[in-house]
Amino acid sequence: MTIIADQICILMLFCILLYSGNGICASLYDYSATTKCLAEPRRAHYGGGLIVNPEFNRGTEGWTAFGQAAIREATSKEGNKYIVAHSRTNPLDSFSQKVQLEKGKLYSFSAWIQVSRGSDTVAAVFKTSDGKLIDAGKVLAKHGCWSLLKGGLAANFTSLVEILFESKNAEMEIWADSVSLQPFTKEQWRSHQDKSINKERKRKVRFQLTSANKTALEGAVVSVTQIKSDFPFGCGMNNYILTSTEYQNWFASRFKYTTFTNQMKWYSTEKIQGEENYTIADAMLQFCEKNGISVRGHNIFWDNSKQQPSWVKKLSPEELREAAAKRINSVTSRYAGKLIAWDVVNENLHFRFFEDNLGENASAEFYRIAHQLDPNTIMFLNEYNTIELAADKESNAVNYKKKIDEILSYPGNAGMSLGIGMQGHFSSDQPDIAYMRSVLDILGSTGLPIWLTEVDVDIGPNQSQYLEEILREAYAHPAVKGIISFSGPAIAGFKVMPLADKDFKNTPAGDVVDKLLAEWKSRALEATTDMKGFFEFSLFHGDYNLTLKHPVTHALTSISFKVTKHRPQRTMHVQIVD
Ligand SMILES: *[C@@H]1O[C@H](CO)[C@@H](O)[C@H](O)[C@H]1NC(C)=O
Ligand SMILES: *[C@@H]1O[C@H](CO)[C@@H](O)[C@H](O)[C@H]1NC(C)=O
Ligand SMILES: *[C@@H]1O[C@H](CO)[C@@H](O)[C@H](O)[C@H]1NC(C)=O
Ligand SMILES: *[C@@H]1O[C@H](CO)[C@@H](O)[C@H](O)[C@H]1NC(C)=O
Ligand SMILES: *[C@@H]1O[C@H](CO)[C@@H](O)[C@H](O)[C@H]1NC(C)=O
Ligand SMILES: *[C@@H]1O[C@H](CO)[C@@H](O)[C@H](O)[C@H]1NC(C)=O
Repeated sequence: MTIIADQICILMLFCILLYSGNGICASLYDYSATTKCLAEPRRAHYGGGLIVNPEFNRGTEGWTAFGQAAIREATSKEGNKYIVAHSRTNPLDSFSQKVQLEKGKLYSFSAWIQVSRGSDTVAAVFKTSDGKLIDAGKVLAKHGCWSLLKGGLAANFTSLVEILFESKNAEMEIWADSVSLQPFTKEQWRSHQDKSINKERKRKVRFQLTSANKTALEGAVVSVTQIKSDFPFGCGMNNYILTSTEYQNWFASRFKYTTFTNQMKWYSTEKIQGEENYTIADAMLQFCEKNGISVRGHNIFWDNSKQQPSWVKKLSPEELREAAAKRINSVTSRYAGKLIAWDVVNENLHFRFFEDNLGENASAEFYRIAHQLDPNTIMFLNEYNTIELAADKESNAVNYKKKIDEILSYPGNAGMSLGIGMQGHFSSDQPDIAYMRSVLDILGSTGLPIWLTEVDVDIGPNQSQYLEEILREAYAHPAVKGIISFSGPAIAGFKVMPLADKDFKNTPAGDVVDKLLAEWKSRALEATTDMKGFFEFSLFHGDYNLTLKHPVTHALTSISFKVTKHRPQRTMHVQIVD
């Protein structure tokens, strides 16, 4: 019995995935229009949730002026009502409404915002009863159209909070409409993640087995095994791997994706000016190639003045320009075509060493050159605190989007494939995954791939639990195309969040990683074909082997197949030749 391979044909039948459209789930992940500026605002998400009079249909009822602002109701030409804060003198002067937050609940926040002229960043701020101000989301609001401010908060306290809005430019009015604050329990949040994982990372695949004479093959026993996962979930790696076979085995048995922690950085490859040495990075790359591990290039430059080779700090701007040109040429050409990504200018939202020394366009120019030298590799920005910390003023979603626009609008950069790198260095506190989701929504709507590039959680009593929450939130989000956890075995010097102890036994964080690696892969499945020769599995995207046992002859046959997101829904038709 053999299989005619090219008769595995595609029938556009049946298997349409229906992930029961409870509206809540749908709008949580409906982020495609997040950054569009609209002539009229949309309706409030979730009917406004906890917000009273969310669409201002009853004027300003339920809302009060905050600070020294005055508020009024306004009506658009089309008859839509909204609220206006005017006569402002301080950034927080706006309108507000009090709501009760409960510890342990997750809150999705949204509002449609406009300013009375030009444009400015408008933030949603939650003021607790003891006066603490919590950032809950930001938007670059414009005059003339409505922008969606998306945000969120995972409450680690129970308190009445006052929701208000901030714009640094007190000269302009803040306008708002369709304000929404929707609470979720942890269980509801988790069930939305699971639904999204089913939808984004898996496919139902239906098979039909027939005999050579085209009759259905009933009672064949079929088993399916996943050989490879399509989702990149990898781990950092350092040079200790070159000297430890235990580390090598530990790594290669788990991961197919990596980033070298420091070994490609400028301060590692050119410690002394003019003396380049790629011995270690080359050897690590060779290990990866031998083991089928894909590598993210990290990094060409780091915009932090403290992270330059010591000799670089002493250069004049002209000398720096020359040394930087040599560096980008050297490292990018050396590894061109061998990497899956480049972090081109690391942390250029927080730092500006190259901008200060070489001019405002330094980063954009480096992206242009790197892309020219290695045109098929995705060029990433790579930042910390974009998803980790709502209070960070530098790397929030608004500034990140501006930087992307700045790089892509630079002459020569328009068609470049750019990627969004989010380091994901979380503190030991409860991660704010509600805020994290809002940032993934906002930046995901650019259509660019998002990777979490350096995930770890600081030392603390709930480290492994928080790691799991973060990884689930990332994996569930359709815009996230890869995750690298920045850790490894303790013996290699990973101190913050080791995944294995000195004897290569899993730490609790290591257990989380192994659990999720297993959970995000289809387990071995077995089925027996029905009367019509059908069977069906729900499978994670990736590569599979299928073995079937003929009901009469008991002969075994194997085929390989692939499950991807982008192929149409289908039934695989397998015809067996007796
Ligand atoms: C809540 O989390 C924040 C950090 O996100 C932390 O600063 C604060 O201390 C925490 N509050 C409580 C009551 O645990
Ligand atoms: C088709 O072939 C199968 C064996 O593979 C046999 O059991 C069945 O009777 C055949 N049907 C017809 C209509 O010939
Ligand atoms: C390059 O680096 C390797 C590894 O650190 C070292 O063994 C070697 O001596 C260096 N080569 C030169 C020319 O310095
Ligand atoms: C930066 O590049 C832009 C083109 O995108 C150009 O208009 C501008 O003059 C450049 N600025 C500097 C400081 O070179
Ligand atoms: C760890 O979790 C416990 C139980 O949920 C909680 O009481 C404690 O505040 C958490 N600690 C940190 C640092 O988040
Ligand atoms: C999958 O099947 C192919 C042939 O179809 C075979 O070469 C390969 O070894 C199988 N892989 C596993 C892990 O069974």
